Amino acid sequence: MIRSVALGCGSYVPARAVANADLTNVVDTSDEWIVQRTGIRQRHIAAEGELTSDLAVAAARAALVHAGVSVEEVDLIVVATSTPDETFPATATTVQAKLGMTKGAAFDVQAVCSGFVYALSVADSMLKNGLGTTALVIGAETFTRLLDWGDRASCVLFGDGAGAIVLRAETATGATDERGVIASTLHSDGRLHDLLYVDGGPSSTGTTGHLRMHGKEVYRHAVTKLTEVVGEVLIAGGLTSADIDWVVPHQANVRIIDSVAGKLALDPAQVIVTVDQHANTSAASIPLALTAAVTDGRIQRGDLLLFEALGGGMTWGANLLRW
Ligand code: UT7
Repeated sequence: MIRSVALGCGSYVPARAVANADLTNVVDTSDEWIVQRTGIRQRHIAAEGELTSDLAVAAARAALVHAGVSVEEVDLIVVATSTPDETFPATATTVQAKLGMTKGAAFDVQAVCSGFVYALSVADSMLKNGLGTTALVIGAETFTRLLDWGDRASCVLFGDGAGAIVLRAETATGATDERGVIASTLHSDGRLHDLLYVDGGPSSTGTTGHLRMHGKEVYRHAVTKLTEVVGEVLIAGGLTSADIDWVVPHQANVRIIDSVAGKLALDPAQVIVTVDQHANTSAASIPLALTAAVTDGRIQRGDLLLFEALGGGMTWGANLLRW
């Protein structure tokens, strides 16, 4: 059989960091409220003219260097984003061109905050089926461009950034102690559209629109659905929560992260948290957190990682990856 083995990862955040206190000039909020309700302390905001593809390319280059893989070896790019440079073409094809690639296939996956979990699963399936040998899986967002800066309930929650991993198709026996993607589980329920969406788009209004969220409802769904999907992916992988070395969750709210980890009886020290530094970067949050923990040495080769995320759609899912 083939397994998609992670060779390296990388990330990028825009230079401008905006602290909670800076937002008190924009909306009626406070550092105390934001920290207590979400764990967020700052977010990065892309510069004027800095595009999702620019963030993605910077993260991809860092991941390729970390993996020791040259751009010529890449034959598949999957970009998870809900903030593409343009309505079309896919941001992934712009990334392909900016990396100087002249071959392979590139496309976007749109599953909002679950985007990276979806993209990893799609790339893994393609590599297993011979539709590529070396893949860049990228989560990249300029979510601050979708915000209504008059809505304090949402504008304080999000940031911009990108993260990437390099996957390679390698022959394997299928044992759970072998490196690579072990299992993925994906879900969606379009009936929950109104809980988190953007009120614009080329087909509906012809405008880009703004993010709208019923935070409390999203929170409730996040805790129950993420706990369920983690149980499902563990069964699919033939593993238990005791086998997990690190949880790398989508970074929306530290209270959601703690709550899901608590239901799985995991030690909080096994959970990678970067929401304080990056806020919610949607599809970029998991590879940003992953890169932070690989860079500081917490995550080591051979460790079992759990990725889990929920987002607009609603979409949710989880992956098990032996790093
Ligand atoms: O990435 C995937 C999707 N996103 C999420 O997973 C987010 C899920 N939801 C959440 O994280 C939380 O629901 C929020 C952080 C968005 C909100 O926390 P909450 O504890 O659910 O607060 P709330 O919406 O019930 O608001 C409580 C109070 C309200 O005031 P009243 O009605 O009690 O007087 C809000 O008006 O906090 C007020 N409030 C604020 N106050 C200061 C809302 N936003 C702010 C703000 N600053 N920025």
